[in-house]
Amino acid sequence: MGRNWIPAAGLLACLIPAGMFAQESRKTVTVEVYVPEDARLLIEGQETRSQGPMRRFVSPPLPPGHYTYTITAIIPGPNGPRTVTRQIDVRPGDFESIDLREPGQRPITDVEYEPTPQKVVEALLRLAKVTRKDVVWDLGCGDGRIPVTAAKEYGCQARGFDIDPARVKDSLANARQHGVERLVRIEQRDIFTLDLSQGPTVVTLYLLPRLNARLLPQLRKLPPGARVISVAHRMADVKPDEQIVVDTEMGEFDVYLWKAETLRGN
Ligand SMILES: C[S@@+](CC[C@H](N)C(=O)[O-])C[C@H]1O[C@@H](n2cnc3c(N)ncnc32)[C@H](O)[C@@H]1O
Repeated sequence: MGRNWIPAAGLLACLIPAGMFAQESRKTVTVEVYVPEDARLLIEGQETRSQGPMRRFVSPPLPPGHYTYTITAIIPGPNGPRTVTRQIDVRPGDFESIDLREPGQRPITDVEYEPTPQKVVEALLRLAKVTRKDVVWDLGCGDGRIPVTAAKEYGCQARGFDIDPARVKDSLANARQHGVERLVRIEQRDIFTLDLSQGPTVVTLYLLPRLNARLLPQLRKLPPGARVISVAHRMADVKPDEQIVVDTEMGEFDVYLWKAETLRGN
């Protein structure tokens, strides 16, 4: 989900807000759409030529603004074709992913596993100014590299949550391998059921813009002084308190930090 490795596979139809044409600040929007292999796919009513179970679209560079795309899949079935329509709200620079398959055909995860490069993990923990007294929670922990690195480098308590049992197993093995099992707890949980008012002082995310936005009500319950870090993705329209760019072999990664107070609007 880093922005630089995404190949341009087509163009999204775009809605350009009137009066916004600052060439220098234009960015693309990338959208992945999962559909049954034989589905037809329309964006803004225009049929696309892409095929396969995952279709990826990249817009032309767009000026800053809010953009809404209507995405329609026409899915053949034994009782005739079924039409599924979804609207997505995006901003230039966004990567989004939506799944238009039947619930039973979708994976259990809301976003695919993609590890944060280790260099970015180290940079984000520095950005959050993690200390031994912090409690770091990674929501959607993958192989557990964020909680494991936090415990190993800073000696703090850390927890990782993932809905996928395979990732939970990886994370537990990772904690064992690095000898930090006493500081790191890993649980199989849906992150949207977590109570964030008790426990974490630092929350880390590498999800998607719409998932960050969905987590906002939970994140607003964090205690004063807590920090939220997001790799690659914005948090609705809440301006970050800090932002860095980390250069890696996989391209540049934006890392954002919000204080709990900022997320609550005070
Ligand atoms: C992009 S990976 C990030 C992994 C790790 N945080 C990192 O930065 O290396 C997102 C992870 O979120 C997990 N995930 C997706 N939806 C979830 C949900 N609703 N609850 C818990 N975990 C979820 C996936 O299984 C995946 O491991």
